[in-house]
Amino acid sequence: MTRLSIDQQDAWRALSAHAQQMRGSHLRELFTARPGRHAAFTHRAAGLTLDLSKQRWSDETLELLLDLAREAQLPEAIRALLDGERVNRSEDRPALHTALRLPPDASLRVEGNDLVPSVHACLDRMASMVESFHAGQWRGATGRAIGHVVNLGVGGSDLGPLMVTHALSDYRLQGVHEVEVHFASTMDGSQLADYLARLNPETTLFVLSSKSFTTIDTLSNARTARDWLMARLGNEEGVDDALVMRQHFIGVSASPEKMCEWGIAEAHQLEFWEWVGGRYSLWGCIGLPIALVVGMARFRELLAGAHAMDRHFREAPLADNLPVLLALAGIWNVNFLDIRAHSILPYDGRLEYFAAYLEQLEMESNGKSVTHDGDKVNYSTCPVLWGQLGPNAQHAFYQLLHQGTQAVECDFIAPLVRYDDVTDEATRHHLMGQHRLTLANCFAQSRVLMLGDDAIADDGPRPGHKRYRGNQPSSTLLLDRLTPATLGALIALYEHKVFVQATIWDINPFDQWGVELGKQIAGETQHILEHHEGLEAMDESTRALIEAVWAAEQG
Ligand code: F6P
Repeated sequence: MTRLSIDQQDAWRALSAHAQQMRGSHLRELFTARPGRHAAFTHRAAGLTLDLSKQRWSDETLELLLDLAREAQLPEAIRALLDGERVNRSEDRPALHTALRLPPDASLRVEGNDLVPSVHACLDRMASMVESFHAGQWRGATGRAIGHVVNLGVGGSDLGPLMVTHALSDYRLQGVHEVEVHFASTMDGSQLADYLARLNPETTLFVLSSKSFTTIDTLSNARTARDWLMARLGNEEGVDDALVMRQHFIGVSASPEKMCEWGIAEAHQLEFWEWVGGRYSLWGCIGLPIALVVGMARFRELLAGAHAMDRHFREAPLADNLPVLLALAGIWNVNFLDIRAHSILPYDGRLEYFAAYLEQLEMESNGKSVTHDGDKVNYSTCPVLWGQLGPNAQHAFYQLLHQGTQAVECDFIAPLVRYDDVTDEATRHHLMGQHRLTLANCFAQSRVLMLGDDAIADDGPRPGHKRYRGNQPSSTLLLDRLTPATLGALIALYEHKVFVQATIWDINPFDQWGVELGKQIAGETQHILEHHEGLEAMDESTRALIEAVWAAEQG
């Protein structure tokens, strides 16, 4: 029996009617009308506090949204996801990133096999590699200990480790042989060229991170790196190509065959599974750069924090479930208040790459317009999501948030406490003051976005260009402090939020067919650029662009 499209169901219709009344209401009035609103709309789990009281909704809205979630059979969908059913229907496989963070004594039988032992066997192999780097025992071809590791990957094979290594920079493992971790993702080679200019090939190792091991961006960087190593080390006494390949490359992929074809030594291959999506993969061996920076014990704390959120997601009632509530706020904004822009605003410099990470997580997952059955949806799905460190964004695009014509939902993210462990007293005093300054800005911004002109007591007559309308909805997410565990919980919160929204929108968050055509056409275009044939098949604009390159190359 085919399911009625979600927008044909009772809860959706009730929400549409309810939205007619709510559209005219201002956040200022919603607070006046509902004493205790902050407590009623604030929830806690796994070291995170989520304040949803500045969303433009009421108790009744939330009740109706919970009905919508039940009509979409959300509890059943959550169970199916976590139990390893084939929820990724277009690729006919489970999406089991949550299995990567199960503790070693857990068990998860999927289609007859317990996955936990193989997950932990992989982590253990990664742990022994990490240990060898930290002991200064991983040596390059000339015998010198490796001190620089460059991760070559893109998308999910780059953004997760990049984001987490920055976020956990305070947790760098001390007292071990130092290994500096770098990231190069762009196919134009600009990041890589910069490293090659300043790193010593004798002490540099490359991690080729690619689930498919076919991604041209990563493979072209890898080829350049391999030639750079061969050219510089190949003439050293006792060094041959095989030794360079063995000592200077690690591969992380779901395709051992392709890693072998490329020349990665079997002992230096870390595998992962087809049932882990690229953008959900930092929890396994794609997380090697993270473990190299913070050590395995902290890496396992990251996993434990994510697992705590997984348990909360499975066990908490919908009305108290952080990922569910965060997702419902988004659905309300996108589908009923027509707010289709969403900004991610962390107030902690360590979370510099968090917005970029979420851009992939949310838009690659839910940037879809057909249902699981391939029918076109009649409603909006993923909003345009972007972000930047909040304090910097205040001096860049907040003008639009405050006085532009677009309604935008914002997520403010900050740790409650920071710097209290700095040993030098004067520095601690100043830095804790800077953290409070940052929090003051964070809270002030969400307040002004909510209240507009009413945020100031004296609101005398002012010209239009100095007026603030307010009523921009936001969520505030406070971490008790930024630790490996709370970061794990934060990431898992957003992963599950994406899943809840996908369930309600009846779309598959685990595939990304939309990126394939561009790759194919890029291959054809590259052929024309390189071989000067087939230009006539191009459209007029593309033809002119290609000809401009040829003309420029000829000077
Ligand atoms: O092209 C998109 C994509 O497939 C992402 O989903 C993925 O994270 C990225 O490319 C990298 O893919 P891979 O890890 O297979 O190199």
